[in-house]
Amino acid sequence: MITRIVIGITGGIAAYKIPHLIRLLRKQGAAVKVVLTHHAQPLVGSETLRTLSDNPVYHDSETVYDMDHIRLAQWGELLLIAPATANTIAKVAHGIGDNLLTTLALAFKPSQVMIAPAMNTAMWENSATQENIAVLRRRGYQVLPVGSGELACGDDGAGRMLEPEEIVKAAGGGRILSGRRLLISSGPTEEPIDPVRVITNRSSGRMGAALAQAALAMGAEVIVVSGPATAPLPAGATVIPVRTAAEMEVALSERFSDVDVCIMAAAVSDYRPEKVASEKIRRSGETLSIRLVMNDDILAGLGTKKGASQLLVGFSLESDGDSARAREKMNRKKCDLMVFNRVDQALGTATTTVTVLHRNGTQFTMENTDKAEVARALLERIAELLGTAHE
Ligand SMILES: Cc1cc2nc3c(=O)[nH]c(=O)nc-3n(C[C@H](O)[C@H](O)[C@H](O)COP(=O)(O)O)c2cc1C
Repeated sequence: MITRIVIGITGGIAAYKIPHLIRLLRKQGAAVKVVLTHHAQPLVGSETLRTLSDNPVYHDSETVYDMDHIRLAQWGELLLIAPATANTIAKVAHGIGDNLLTTLALAFKPSQVMIAPAMNTAMWENSATQENIAVLRRRGYQVLPVGSGELACGDDGAGRMLEPEEIVKAAGGGRILSGRRLLISSGPTEEPIDPVRVITNRSSGRMGAALAQAALAMGAEVIVVSGPATAPLPAGATVIPVRTAAEMEVALSERFSDVDVCIMAAAVSDYRPEKVASEKIRRSGETLSIRLVMNDDILAGLGTKKGASQLLVGFSLESDGDSARAREKMNRKKCDLMVFNRVDQALGTATTTVTVLHRNGTQFTMENTDKAEVARALLERIAELLGTAHE
């Protein structure tokens, strides 16, 4: 449980929800101090914030701003920027410190900063905002997802700040995987045909990156064995780059016995060319046949080595909507959880529809949900299972 939280409020209309957020955090026993940007000041009452936080409210007035950025950074265990405007997100992503809050953000470690974006859909979808968010995630900032629905501007779409109850869950009880080691496989694999050609697939590595990011935020130590993915991985994770399924198998097997949880989110090639040509294959003849041989089943191999206290989680990507095959795979490969998703709703996309199956027969489904949110829900389930694994 995080006990000292600095809340940075920026000039978004969702600022009116922050007094409620402060009440919820204080009920959980957290001490709270509030920093307001200039543009946040007309949107929420300072006196309300002072009363609810039971602390002075900090802003950019010359009399109060007196090395507060250092003192507040030393005091706080977490800087929670909520709501975070597109403007402040851009400034934090670029290391700009032109007011108390952005300077404070520079004085915190990225992993200690949680950002709850809130803005109109067009601003959220703007590539400048999306690239800034990607930069922050890559540096290890905890960026919360946005909700969808009716916005203050009248639009209907993505960009709403998460509800205070959800933010409290992320901020207050967040470090539920503290002291745990997680091994995550991510991205596609590449099987060489000749020195320039490969067999690969359309996995972007987004799910693996979201899992790594969420697991770090929950306090876990994270090792990612990653194929050549395009999605950036967070700075706090140890990354082991691999290319082929065989390399991935070796990298995972070497580390598996040292971890509490292994999540196989990579899209591993089932087959590889039997022979790799030593020189580029020239254009000749009307057809060309490449004989493929089966790769080892990495997940099933790890299942046979699994210790009593370890959890093994698989992903099962299917072309149809039937989860029966995924459940059969889970049992056969000795997995504790199997995340079932469909090809058209998973590969390379930001959102996904998944059904998480548990070996005890229970399951839950999340539809068209941001991969960051799916990652958090899956890890919460894993944390629960770790807590009861020895019962
Ligand atoms: C009433 C009002 C509501 C606003 N709501 C938002 C918002 O939800 N998200 C956002 O990114 N900007 C919003 N803006 C624009 C920001 O306030 C503006 O970009 C400002 O420069 C942000 O400064 P700050 O990031 O230092 O607080 C709003 C502006 C006004 C006047």
